Amino acid sequence: SFTIMKAEDYNSMSLLAAKKVIEKIKEQQNIVLGLATGSTPEGLYRELIDDHKQNGTSYRNIKTVNLDEYIGLDKTNRNSYKSFMYEKLFQYIDIPPEHTHIPNGIADDPVREAERYDKLIEQLGGVDLQILGIGHNGHIGFNEPGTSFSSRTHIVKLENSTRMANSRLFNKVDEVPSQAITMGISSILESKEILLLASGSAKAPAIKHLLSEDVSENFPASALKLHKNVTIIADSAALK
Ligand code: GLP
Repeated sequence: SFTIMKAEDYNSMSLLAAKKVIEKIKEQQNIVLGLATGSTPEGLYRELIDDHKQNGTSYRNIKTVNLDEYIGLDKTNRNSYKSFMYEKLFQYIDIPPEHTHIPNGIADDPVREAERYDKLIEQLGGVDLQILGIGHNGHIGFNEPGTSFSSRTHIVKLENSTRMANSRLFNKVDEVPSQAITMGISSILESKEILLLASGSAKAPAIKHLLSEDVSENFPASALKLHKNVTIIADSAALK
């Protein structure tokens, strides 16, 4: 069963999440942190930046592993997750660039890239704390409904609803790539601890589904019920 932390609003959700992350870092300086993109964790990243500036929490010995990346966007594209992470977090903290890992969405051979990414995570000793958001259809990372729970890092075709949901950040929906590379469900479940964030009424149906329905590959986030250490931090609108 999940530990659920109810936050009043987006800011307090972000603050609670930041406290958890910072606590973990204090416990273990060389933690492997699993990171997510999307609007949801932006507030968390802002809190981490603030704390870094004010309290000097250091990221020098930390390694980060991101969940996913679009296929076909290079790092100069502001919608690539590589540039998102730089813009929203990495440029403001003292993490060495070579400690930050994101699947390469412009690799010549995406299948080999997926294999490389799995090996890399293994070499790092696995993810200690994984941050997750949730899609309206229950996707985690870019694992769309129907993804096998035994999946490892792999190439996915994005659902139109996902492309629509993410199109707000692009000029038009046609510019949203139709494929992505993502850590699989089984790779995600190997993280020692998972922190799922959800905010706003648009996520309420997904959270309700997650809390009330059975485990099913048709709702990828339900796989988290198979994990022993998952905390959901959600604001009141997402928990309605
Ligand atoms: C995106 C990302 C996910 C993210 C989800 C929700 O497609 N690949 O990692 O959790 O959609 O995004 P948001 O937080 O913007 O609602």
